[in-house]
Amino acid sequence: MSSPNDSEIFNPSPEVLEQANVPEYEAMYDYSITNREGFWADQAETLSWFKKWDTVLDESNAPFYKWFDGGSINIVQNAIDRHLGNANRNKMAIIWEGENGQVRNYSYNGLNREVCQFANTLKSMGVNKGDIVTIYMPQIPELIFAMLACAKIGAIHSVVYGGFSTEALASRIDDAQSRVLITADGGWRRGRQIDLKSIANEAMKRTPSIEVCICVKNNELDVEMEPARDFWLHDLKALPIASSKCETEQTSAEDPLFILYTSGTTGKPKGMLHTHGGYAVYTSTTHRMAFDIKPQDRWWCAADPGWITGHSYIVYGPLINGATIMLYEGAPNYPYPNRWWQIVEKYGINILYTSPTAIRGLMRFGDRWPQKHDLSSLRLLGSVGEPINPEAWRWYHQVIGNNKCPIIDTWWQTETGGFMVCPLPITPLKPGSATKPFFGNEISIVDDDGSEVPAGEEGKLIIKNPWPGMARTIFKDDQRYADLYWSKRDNIWCYLAGDSAKKDEDGYIWVIGRMDEVLKVSGYRLGTAEIESALVSHPQVNEAAAIGLPHELKGNAIHTYVILKQGQTGSLELELELKEHVSKELGKIATPEAVAFVDSLPKTRSGKIMRRVLKARALGQDEGDLSTLEE
Ligand code: WT7
Repeated sequence: MSSPNDSEIFNPSPEVLEQANVPEYEAMYDYSITNREGFWADQAETLSWFKKWDTVLDESNAPFYKWFDGGSINIVQNAIDRHLGNANRNKMAIIWEGENGQVRNYSYNGLNREVCQFANTLKSMGVNKGDIVTIYMPQIPELIFAMLACAKIGAIHSVVYGGFSTEALASRIDDAQSRVLITADGGWRRGRQIDLKSIANEAMKRTPSIEVCICVKNNELDVEMEPARDFWLHDLKALPIASSKCETEQTSAEDPLFILYTSGTTGKPKGMLHTHGGYAVYTSTTHRMAFDIKPQDRWWCAADPGWITGHSYIVYGPLINGATIMLYEGAPNYPYPNRWWQIVEKYGINILYTSPTAIRGLMRFGDRWPQKHDLSSLRLLGSVGEPINPEAWRWYHQVIGNNKCPIIDTWWQTETGGFMVCPLPITPLKPGSATKPFFGNEISIVDDDGSEVPAGEEGKLIIKNPWPGMARTIFKDDQRYADLYWSKRDNIWCYLAGDSAKKDEDGYIWVIGRMDEVLKVSGYRLGTAEIESALVSHPQVNEAAAIGLPHELKGNAIHTYVILKQGQTGSLELELELKEHVSKELGKIATPEAVAFVDSLPKTRSGKIMRRVLKARALGQDEGDLSTLEE
């Protein structure tokens, strides 16, 4: 992959300029910085509130900020209810296509009916306001219904990505102490049925808190149902109690909406907590402005709802904006490498938002697959999850966007809730740069002492202000949240993102990658510590280290080093067994690319594994400062 060139510029076409929702950046940006609360209050005014806020931003307990405190709002009131009284009522809210070609459509009215029935079902199972419901599902409409049903009654959802496996699910259920789990018998991938319920069963054995498990029927797998604990959704929906009328709970702006676990530097994932009010304002505003959303748009964010990208930009932001959302369950190249392009053509998708990994994966099959299709409905393209390399950017721009669609490269995180650095469609683009801060945000690149580094130099990316979409805390761990993310510089609270980046002479931000023990593999965020603890849970393994090494398609691939228990010897069989073990414990996305059997690992005197040394050795680079390395 070649490195980015900061002088290559793509200017927006006259058509793009003409129809832009935000016709100008600089003046609006200046206003949003000098009058941050005014800017966000203006945006909040576009939503429907049961009661307006008392204060826009409460900084009295920083870094625990409150937005729109005193206000009463439910995100579902905005994502569904308010559309029912206008022309959106019969508009398509969700178009879903399964891998086998099955199609299901829901209008906003139909979505409301499903969500109300689901909400009543949850109530009948004893779910109350403030309860945490874990959701472990494939990419089917019921996943969205389940999330919205929780939010509607003021329950908190904790979605665990359907590609995760036993231990990843069990540890997240355990941390949240969920009493209710919503899952499905299985999902589809490359024509095969993925058995989710048996993974859920195994996870429920490892953690005892689940009392009720609601299972959606999605394929033909014969699954084990435990009487009095496990129920089929279709049976529950058939009961009189599951009516299609349900009041939306009047939650407070700062009431929790969801927890989403993300990997950090320890083996224990962090439950990032987001709220009803600020998150609704932030996701809808960023989505409307950065992607120029129009009433007639068909929007396809080809991520999984189980990650923050899906929460913010499949479900909440787009539904609040009344868009029609596309959802596809299956592999991008199944049965042929044109599957996605076929979907774009068939449904007339206007905006496609995906990851560099997916783009590289499809690019590899050549231009003839997209060229077979009429992709002229596309107006804008988006990228997220990792830096996009210029080759992939240009291919996406030329072959998919026919040189007319701006590429909206959005930098953000699970913690930020929504876009922090991204262009608007009118912004001149430089391939590989997420360009400029979104409104209200001041972003700096600093050195270890917190001083701003000169243009063109690498440093740590910090955000020098609160924003409405920010996570409020780590679930049950306020201290860790404050310590990990926030510090005071020149009397200003700054958020430390954990990424290294550069800012060029034009103020464009170039994100380089994670600075901590977090890996981005195919855009998925994984902690080295989680992979290591999965390896160590194998009976023959004594110690393990995981690092990321550059990979053509995945961005990074997981390489591991393993010290076996005494008397054990490494072999090809054991290597395969260990890979399979990690895949079973954490999920396929965490499967190591390679397992090397070693006798020792480089460590500091205090016993910390020096992954940086392993990485330098693997790449044949200078090992750097070894003064802390133990003999
Ligand atoms: C990390 C956050 C944000 C939704 C998906 C990922 C990396 C994300 C970009 C981008 C360069 C990016 C960063 C960040 N990242 N978007 N456009 N350019 N890097 O959310 O799983 O919380 O991961 O993803 O390293 O810290 P996440």
